[in-house]
Amino acid sequence: MNVSEQKKTRILVVDDTKVNRTILEARLKEEGYEVTCAPDGRIALELLGLAQESPSPNLDDYGAILLDIMMPEIDGLEVLRKVRERFSSLELPVIMATAKNESVDIVEALRAGANDYVTKPTDMGVLKARLETHLKLRHYHADLRRAHHSLVSAARAESIAHLAAGVAHEIRNPLAQIRMAAPPLRKLVGDDPGGRVLLDVLENAVDRADQVVARLMETSKDEALQVVPTDLNTLVTWSATVLEAELESHGIQCELRLAKDLPNARLSPPEMQQALIQVILNASQATEPGGTVTVTTRSRILESSPPVDSRSGNRLRKGDLVEEVVIEDNGPGVSEDKIGAIFDPFFTTKPTGAALGLGLTLVRKFMSLQGGHVTVANRMDVRGLRVTLTVAAARNLRTHV
Ligand SMILES: Nc1ncnc2c1ncn2[C@@H]1O[C@H](COP(=O)(O)OP(=O)(O)O)[C@@H](O)[C@H]1O
Ligand SMILES: [Mg+2]
Repeated sequence: MNVSEQKKTRILVVDDTKVNRTILEARLKEEGYEVTCAPDGRIALELLGLAQESPSPNLDDYGAILLDIMMPEIDGLEVLRKVRERFSSLELPVIMATAKNESVDIVEALRAGANDYVTKPTDMGVLKARLETHLKLRHYHADLRRAHHSLVSAARAESIAHLAAGVAHEIRNPLAQIRMAAPPLRKLVGDDPGGRVLLDVLENAVDRADQVVARLMETSKDEALQVVPTDLNTLVTWSATVLEAELESHGIQCELRLAKDLPNARLSPPEMQQALIQVILNASQATEPGGTVTVTTRSRILESSPPVDSRSGNRLRKGDLVEEVVIEDNGPGVSEDKIGAIFDPFFTTKPTGAALGLGLTLVRKFMSLQGGHVTVANRMDVRGLRVTLTVAAARNLRTHV
């Protein structure tokens, strides 16, 4: 890979001497890079989204940083340390620029996670070679991570898909035969009450088995979702309305606490709605008659990067603006030894026949396909479970320069 193949790579040049910035900018542009200059550490951190006021770091804007060590106020080492709190040396390479007599600083910088250094006055040939090396590594690392990630989710999805296809093939046909046999059987049974009850049982069982197969097939589908800017509050209200009659029949209230002025969220409405319905249903099933399920919407800045589970290209990171739906109930919650298993296919604690154990499997898959995620936790203050569905806000807060 040469520079022309990664035309748009932007280098952030941080140097407090104007003439250095001007020369480096001109020379790097000649080499085909885009360049942004920062005259001090504070502005560099702001541009990277690492300053206090702009809590949304942006990994995608810069390919590498060329960072002067000696600068007034926030020096290069301090900038480097802040960068390394968020980005690894493979995610965002940093090359230090130092005067010849600063070898102590160089050692310290390398220890603090600098990828490399160049001495001033900068030899462009050396700088170019070092940049290319580290950009290549960064590129391969990103490729590797993407490949690993999609391989893991593909393997998981595929095994379920395989199972589902097998089940569908093996079971759908005999099920259809049983279903077709029911009407003539009804005729034969005539008015015999015992026979009619048995036939009802039989038909119900066929319906249920059919449902399992259909759900399994849904769980194994792995198509890309169309994620569009959507008003989350409207979607939550809709989902609650769909469930209103069902919840009422069990004496359960659904209380909505919708955040005002919520910006649009990035989601796929049909899948998000299905996820909401599954989670609200679970909550209501865990609730005693007369109880209330609370559904809250909010937006917040992610305090830490969630574990990589997203099957969409856009995974959430620390500092991103996200939108959340929090579903809380006053049920028994989930014991700590089971909480890791509740997303597994067919995991259910409900009586056989009452549940398939695929609801949360589907929820997790749908959230991940939308680039979001789902978390569960027992509530701290009171009894009950809290399920949080998280998606990205449509408005991208990341600093674009
Ligand atoms: N709100 C909740 N409170 C307590 N347990 C829950 C709650 N939601 C889910 N669970 C547990 O997780 C299991 C799996 O849920 P799910 O995948 O939706 O399957 P199902 O509802 O068919 O059992 C449930 O059987 C239950 O044990
Ligand atoms: Mg369920």
